Amino acid sequence: MNGREQWGTRAGFILAAIGSAVGLGNIWRFPYVAYENGGGAFFLPYLFALLTAGIPLLIMEFTLGHKYRGSAPLSYARMNKKTEWIGWWQVAISFVIATYYAVIIAWALSYTYFAFNQRWGDDTGGFLMGDYLQRIDVVSGGAPGDVGALVPGVLIPLVIVWIITLGVLFKGVRRGIEIANRIFIPLLVAMFLLIVIRAITLEGALTGLDAFFKPDWSEIMSPGVWVAAYGQIFFSLSIAFAIMITYSSYLSKKSDITNNAFITGFSNSSFELLAGIGVFAALGFMAQASGVGVADVADAGIGLAFVVFPEIINTFPGMNGLFGVLFFGSLVLAGLSSLISIVETFISGVQDKFKFSRRKAVGIGGGLAAVISLLFATQGGLFFLDAADYFINQFGVAFAGLVSVIAVSWFVKKLPELQTHADGVSDFRLGTWWKICLSIITPIVLGFMFIQNLIENVTNNYEGYSTGFLIGSGWLVAIGAIVIGFLFARSKWKNGDLNE
Ligand code: ALA
Repeated sequence: MNGREQWGTRAGFILAAIGSAVGLGNIWRFPYVAYENGGGAFFLPYLFALLTAGIPLLIMEFTLGHKYRGSAPLSYARMNKKTEWIGWWQVAISFVIATYYAVIIAWALSYTYFAFNQRWGDDTGGFLMGDYLQRIDVVSGGAPGDVGALVPGVLIPLVIVWIITLGVLFKGVRRGIEIANRIFIPLLVAMFLLIVIRAITLEGALTGLDAFFKPDWSEIMSPGVWVAAYGQIFFSLSIAFAIMITYSSYLSKKSDITNNAFITGFSNSSFELLAGIGVFAALGFMAQASGVGVADVADAGIGLAFVVFPEIINTFPGMNGLFGVLFFGSLVLAGLSSLISIVETFISGVQDKFKFSRRKAVGIGGGLAAVISLLFATQGGLFFLDAADYFINQFGVAFAGLVSVIAVSWFVKKLPELQTHADGVSDFRLGTWWKICLSIITPIVLGFMFIQNLIENVTNNYEGYSTGFLIGSGWLVAIGAIVIGFLFARSKWKNGDLNE
């Protein structure tokens, strides 16, 4: 297709792909998932998932985008018209993720500001839920599903997050996304290295690292640990989000694919490991300072970043404000470079199919996501966010990954053709291992994971939420993304659009 935007350089593409992969998932999700699932022993399933699913799928997505030169819907449609809906489904998943991901970055932005004088005080949990989020059940006796009022303290940073993200996207691929990542990623790495170096030199750091790395081999046989490893790899590598297809569609015709995928995959995992070391060293320090075990201070997701970290910063022996700013500033940078890639998927999708200009696509697509994200900036927002995040990951990302590998390898049988394409442009050639991973190992593991998740969620209400709330805010969101996929795939392409 003539006139498709392009990256300025190979390094620009790699930085953007790493920027997409390294996100909130690396800093606040990975350390706890690893710790909870066997510590050091988790690295075995994690590496297995990275090598058998993460990198092979990344190579597949890079090849799809590069060969068919389109957004996810256009690439899937060019591969076979019957698979176009998978591209739209992945775009819809990204749309949902964008709406709440932006809100978490907004919290991090507020906390970067609060860090200067540790505005959160001593009761960091109470501050987060009460003073800051004004959670509906805490301040006015509401329940999950109640919306409540917009919270100004979240709304203001959220507006800033959207202005930056849409501003970058308005500028386009080379002048917007590429330049933003060239600034954000080196800055993020420098800031995060400072935190890690400081954290491992704190007293008690070794106790934390010991808890993180000590393998609990009894965990390794539990299916849940393998499911967690695959889930982490998918979210963290931005696979099945339509992102990597979109980004590789902006590569020049002669660009390498396989090597780029390995560089992206290993850089992402290295950052993840670094985050685990930094977070657990800091947890060890805090556990020692308060005379408790590491298990008593480790917490998941929101709790780790926005409750435990402020406490750690309070306890720091000096320069508390600086380290707070570095930590939350890192979350903001990592989050923004991922959010930009998530939103670009639907900008690119509607540009290709409906012939919108970039400005119009950013205005309408990005604007709509920004408006919907307001729901998560209300007093009831945290509950909606929790349900949407859980369901779109379990029954969106992982399921779309499963459907895409089955469709490509078994339904349209395109793996040999994709392999020839990747081999034709890459530094090194793909072996049979690549096809075996995609056509056999990944479908078996993801299929098993999907069935297990389905049984678990049909028999138990996630977090004990009411069934009505989970249907409206979780199940319908995940199923809605599939329906949107089919609906958008029904509208016709213009003449010639599907010619490669
Ligand atoms: N890959 C992004 C993350 O880890 C979405 O947060």
